[in-house]
Amino acid sequence: MDVTDESQLRRTFAIISHPDAGKTTLTEKFLLYSGAVQVAGAVHAREGRRSSRSDWMDLEQQRGISISSTVMQFPYRGHTINLLDTPGHRDFSEDTYRVLAAVDAVVMVLDAAKGIEAQTLKLFQVCRARNLPVLTFLNKYDRPSREPLELLDEVESQIELRPTPVTWPVGNGDDFRGVVDRRTGQYTAFTRTARGASAAIEHDIDLAVASAEGGRAWQHALDELSLLEAVGADVDMPSFLAGESTPVFVGSALTNFGVRKLLDAVVDLTPAPTPRLDLADQPRPLDAPFSAFVFKVQANMDPSHRDRIAFARICSGKFERGMSVTNSRTGRDMTTKYATTAFGADRETVDEAYPGDVVGLVNASGVLIGDTLFDAGPAGSAVEFPPLPRFAPEVFARARPIDNSKNKQFRKGLEQLDEEGVVQVLRDPDMGDVENVLAAVGQLQFEVFAYRLGSEFGAPTEIVSAPYQAIRLTDKRSAERLRQIGGIRILTRGDGALVALFENRYRLQRLMSDEPELTLEPILADTDR
Ligand code: G4P
Repeated sequence: MDVTDESQLRRTFAIISHPDAGKTTLTEKFLLYSGAVQVAGAVHAREGRRSSRSDWMDLEQQRGISISSTVMQFPYRGHTINLLDTPGHRDFSEDTYRVLAAVDAVVMVLDAAKGIEAQTLKLFQVCRARNLPVLTFLNKYDRPSREPLELLDEVESQIELRPTPVTWPVGNGDDFRGVVDRRTGQYTAFTRTARGASAAIEHDIDLAVASAEGGRAWQHALDELSLLEAVGADVDMPSFLAGESTPVFVGSALTNFGVRKLLDAVVDLTPAPTPRLDLADQPRPLDAPFSAFVFKVQANMDPSHRDRIAFARICSGKFERGMSVTNSRTGRDMTTKYATTAFGADRETVDEAYPGDVVGLVNASGVLIGDTLFDAGPAGSAVEFPPLPRFAPEVFARARPIDNSKNKQFRKGLEQLDEEGVVQVLRDPDMGDVENVLAAVGQLQFEVFAYRLGSEFGAPTEIVSAPYQAIRLTDKRSAERLRQIGGIRILTRGDGALVALFENRYRLQRLMSDEPELTLEPILADTDR
């Protein structure tokens, strides 16, 4: 098979959800249905092992949230599925943002008793703004749930995604017994297995035959189905692929009801990789020589190795371990002797990979988030992909080493964690690293930052809040003028951009109207565009 054939067998997606909606459970059940794990429960066990190996994962456990995004690859129906994990917490949306740049589709999981929760609304809106194809899974139907029609309304009004129900529940809570597939008119009855440890037993029955059983649950389901028929809410591939409508599936990840249909939809409905646009808006053909972009860099995933892994999503060509690739930002070449794919946190060496796949390049020094890597060999051609979207910081703080004798470790940690994008470190070139300002989307990023400085770099760190309310991109000329005004600081971001921090938002607005010639550009989040 050639590169194009291989790429057509890839499906690369992420699951996004509010914490507790069932993302971990669903991930585990996908692995169960793919045969990658034999019994559900294996993923949790792996997570346990991982946390015992990695100190900073302690924080993750204490908080009961997922901080790091991992990549899982598993086979299903002759396809290779790449599932990129995203942290569920709103505070980590910077990380999530970057993961979303590396996937071709997302599965949005909603707790059917709760619907869309305010905290994660922004995350869903970002997917919409990026025009990512979204499959929706209404989870936990084995528990008393809200009316599905009401949930569909919520998706439509709050995210502006037009729902097109594919499966529809019959019964609810303890009486949840199966789903009707609106595409085929078949009813699938589910039978639980003990603790949901193995696949649910499924029986496909013709709808007319199944519904003849009667009763309230059936009456209710049939009424709703005819309503959906009347409004014609059928799956529409063009608008799904454009990120405007979302096929909706119902089920229960815990009891495995509806999981297979959802995973089938990942293969049947979500797109295979398509040519990615480069900086000049030119599509890079899938069969062009190897190219990839780095969407995540993480150091110290395994403290016994103290290494640094750059995760790159392949856009074109075949990756072969050991090949030499060029970093388009620095022009430097590097070899890829150590390349891994991850199953949870367990690493496996990867020898070859294709568009859509993610490879973890171990000890890829000098590689930063957003970098493009390409094969510059005899047949190779240079390419650069656009920078990854940045999030507008909303909270600011300062970090200080508690122990002054650890300044060196502190500086090293600061640099590393800035590169990883754990927080954004803003510096005053005249003042040195101790006079920094940290910028983030949420407070929890600061906590992770301080925790990792202490546990990985041996530099216990104190975080104190900084009095800033707004941040703007500026330039040298404007910076000179801004420096003369009180309550404003001019600092440099890791990528060299000059930023102005304002202690007072009102002051900023006044300044913008009084001196419109000053460069004060907002840092745009996707949702603001
Ligand atoms: P998350 O990754 O999105 O945060 O959610 P996770 O899968 O960890 O699920 C959160 C809780 O919801 C877990 O319960 C999980 O068992 C439960 N859950 C997930 N899917 C379903 C479902 O379809 N039906 C029902 N009834 N529950 C579901 P927990 O009590 O927090 O943990 P555990 O003791 O079950 O592991």
